Amino acid sequence: MSGPDRSAPERVHVELGNRSYDILIGHNLINTAAQYVAPLLGRRHVVIVTDANVAKLHLEALEQALKRADIGVDSIILPAGEGTKSFQELERLCGLLLDMKVERTSTLVALGGGVIGDLTGFAASIILRGINFIQVPTTLLAQVDSSVGGKTGINTPQGKNLVGSFYQPRLVLSDTGTLDTLGRRELLSGYAEVAKYGLIDEPDFFSWLETNGIDVIEGDESARRYAIGVSCRAKARIVGADERESGARALLNLGHTFGHALEAECGFSDEMLHGEGVAIGMVMAFDLSATLGLCPPEDAARVQRHLASVGLPTSPLSVQGRIWTAERLIEHMGRDKKVKDGRIGFVLARGIGQTFHPAHVDLSQVTAVLNAAIAA
Ligand code: NAD
Ligand code: GLY
Repeated sequence: MSGPDRSAPERVHVELGNRSYDILIGHNLINTAAQYVAPLLGRRHVVIVTDANVAKLHLEALEQALKRADIGVDSIILPAGEGTKSFQELERLCGLLLDMKVERTSTLVALGGGVIGDLTGFAASIILRGINFIQVPTTLLAQVDSSVGGKTGINTPQGKNLVGSFYQPRLVLSDTGTLDTLGRRELLSGYAEVAKYGLIDEPDFFSWLETNGIDVIEGDESARRYAIGVSCRAKARIVGADERESGARALLNLGHTFGHALEAECGFSDEMLHGEGVAIGMVMAFDLSATLGLCPPEDAARVQRHLASVGLPTSPLSVQGRIWTAERLIEHMGRDKKVKDGRIGFVLARGIGQTFHPAHVDLSQVTAVLNAAIAA
C-alpha cells in the first residue's frame, strides 16, 4: 500500500440502540468537521476540551472549521499528561464549563488522546446530569480504543480508572492526519492495541499486520485507515454485544492483567506507556497459554516476533535499571479491578485469534512465566 488516501471517510457504526453512533475515519476530517458535527447539535455551541500539546497543533484548525459554519466555539486547554485524569482537574473543568454557562443542549468536544477523551466524557456524563459529547481522538491509541465504547473516567490515589461512567459519545471523528504530529513512541504504544484486535479473534488481520504493520507506523495513509477501520469495527462489534463488560468485552483486556501490573510497578509513569505494558503483557499471556499447553509455542513466538519487529518492547527488561520481582507483579495483579471473587482475571489463547477466559489459572504457572521473563 502506498500514497495518501483522501477519499470520503470510512464509517463504522456502533450499534447500541438509542445510544448508537458513527465513527468516521479519514484524512483532513478536522477541517471538514462542521458537516458531521452540526447535524448533531442542539444549541449551536460547542466547548472544545483539549490539552496543551494538542492545542498547539490542532486546536485552531478545529475552531476555525466549526466557526466557518457559524457554530459558537469556546475552548478549554488542560495540562497534558495522565495527571490530568484527576478529581482536581475534573472539578476545575466542571467549574469552567459552568462559568461558560453550558446548557443541557450544549455539546463538549474532546480533542486529544485518551486522557482528554476519558476526562471530557466523564465531565459530559455528570455536568447538568449529562450533556452530549463528541470525540476527536488524536493519538492512535485513542483512535482505535479509548474513543470507542463509552468508558470514561479519572484516576484516584487508589488506582487507575476507578471512578467513571459508561457514557457513549454522539460521534467519533478520527482524523488520521493528526497522527503525523504524534511521537513514534506514542504511535507504537497505540499500535499494540491495533495488534490486540488481531490476536483476540481476527487472525487474518494479524497476518495482514505481519506484512503491513510497519506501513501503519511509517505513515502510509491507506494502511493506517484500514488498520484503524478494522480495529474500530472489532471494538464496535464487541461493545455492541456487551457494553458494560459482563462477558465478551473483557476479552479486550488481553495482555492487560500483566501489562497493568508492569505499569503499576513503574508508578504509571513514562517509564512504561500503557501500550508498551499491553505489548509485553500480550507476549506473557501467549507464553502462559503455551506453558499451560493451550496454545502452540509457534503462535506465542509469532506474537513476540511481530511486536518486536515493529519496535515495541516485548520484555520487562526493556526498562533500563529496574529490578522486577514476580511476587510484586502478582501483588499488583491482586489489586486490579478485574479481580473477581478474589481471583485474578486472565485472557488466554488457544492460538492467534482464539482468546478466551479460563475459569482458573494456577498462579505458580503465572509466577514461572514472570520469572522467565524477568531473568536477565
Ligand atoms: P494521552 O492522551 O496522554 O496522549 C499521549 C501524549 O500525546 C500526550 O502528551 C498528548 O498531549 C500527546 N498528543 C496527543 N495527540 C497528539 C498529536 N496528534 N500530536 C502530538 N502529540 C499528541 O495518552 P493516550 O495514550 O492517548 O491515552 C492514554 C489514556 O487512555 C490512559 O489514561 C488510559 O487509561 C486511557 N484509555 C482509555 C480507554 C477507554 O476505553 N476509555 C482505553 C484505553 C486507554
Ligand atoms: N479498553 C477496554 C475497553 O474499552 O473495554
